[in-house]
Amino acid sequence: MEKKKVAIIGVTGSVGQEFVLSLDNHPWFEVTQIAASERSAGKKYLDAIKDASGIIAWDVAGEIPEYIKNMTVKSVDQLDVSQLDLVFSAVESVAARDIETKMAKDLPVISTSSAYRYEEDVPILIPGINDEQSELLEIQKKNRNWKGFVAPLPNCTTTGLAITLKPLFDQYGVKKVMMTSMQAISGGGKSGVSAMGITDNIIPYIPKEEGKVKLETKKILGKLVNGKIVDADIKISCTCTRVPVIDGHTESVFVETVKEIDPQMAKEMYNQSNKTSSVIGLPSAPKDYYAFHDDPTRPQPRMERTVGDGMTTTIGRVEKEELFDNGLKYMLFSHNKKMGSAKGAVLLAEMLYKKNKI
Ligand SMILES: NC(=O)c1ccc[n+]([C@@H]2O[C@H](COP(=O)([O-])OP(=O)(O)OC[C@H]3O[C@@H](n4cnc5c(N)ncnc54)[C@H](OP(=O)(O)O)[C@@H]3O)[C@@H](O)[C@H]2O)c1
Repeated sequence: MEKKKVAIIGVTGSVGQEFVLSLDNHPWFEVTQIAASERSAGKKYLDAIKDASGIIAWDVAGEIPEYIKNMTVKSVDQLDVSQLDLVFSAVESVAARDIETKMAKDLPVISTSSAYRYEEDVPILIPGINDEQSELLEIQKKNRNWKGFVAPLPNCTTTGLAITLKPLFDQYGVKKVMMTSMQAISGGGKSGVSAMGITDNIIPYIPKEEGKVKLETKKILGKLVNGKIVDADIKISCTCTRVPVIDGHTESVFVETVKEIDPQMAKEMYNQSNKTSSVIGLPSAPKDYYAFHDDPTRPQPRMERTVGDGMTTTIGRVEKEELFDNGLKYMLFSHNKKMGSAKGAVLLAEMLYKKNKI
């Protein structure tokens, strides 16, 4: 089988580097072009990721894959779209808007940015959770007269919440959700949080994050009806904080359900969901979509971030919540750069490829 030719835009950034790793030796996709800002354009990849003091700023665990080291980084204008089948975009949202618009005229674009997430004809996709909403991409193409489309992932804090709520929502009904996040430093990108700011500290505010989590969770758990997504009718409140953890977001969640549920029922529900997940068999899918722990000391970022190569969502501390007539509280862990962005985006591309949309 001939591999699909893909470009990574934002290849030098925090998520871009994770894309480089996620696409190394991929069975279906081959990185043939890479791009970043004018600052990096024209440089070999290794030179482009050097910081001002000449140190190679490779922020991903493990070695830099050989295939990328000597590839030349292009500007977006230099990309040859006629030689591409697919684009992965990992650029901050203001720049992403123009870039993704330009690319989608010709090609499918899988995006980790928020540039298009809140548009009516754009689904926010998590493979394994709301695959059926990908049908909206066909309407998007028609509406905009594009050959391609923009398929964004959610914000990395929404990812773990929506993934853990989905089976609860489908099987027990969800009325209200309260969530407090403890988000990793890498979620802010390569220039996001200074070491002085985060060491020995917790930052109780992340600009725009809480609004994104609320909007996105309702849209993801919504239903596609007559070509439009009808948001899930859930009340959501959240507080998003930044903590001194390198990778992986932890969230404390309180959920009011419609039907009665207890921890044992939740355990069976997540274990059953593992057996029926739509992503089973895709190259980037983990063995288990969910890991459920009875051990009250889990989840912990240092222990969970390598489980399923960062693609498994971990759930622990599950207890009946007495604040509600019916409900649960739990903690979750979701890897912001794996399932929450780059590798999750690759899994999304695999799902769309299987559906013949790429
Ligand atoms: N970090 C996470 O965990 C995470 C999770 C989910 C989603 N996201 C989203 O993913 C996107 C990328 O995040 P990040 O954390 O990787 O950011 P980052 O570390 O700041 O990297 C930004 C990348 O975009 C490139 N870039 C900036 N302006 C550009 C332009 N005008 N044209 C082309 N390339 C440009 C940069 O290139 P230079 O190196 O040349 O400047 C760099 O490669 C953002 O939208 C973010 O919100 C991040």
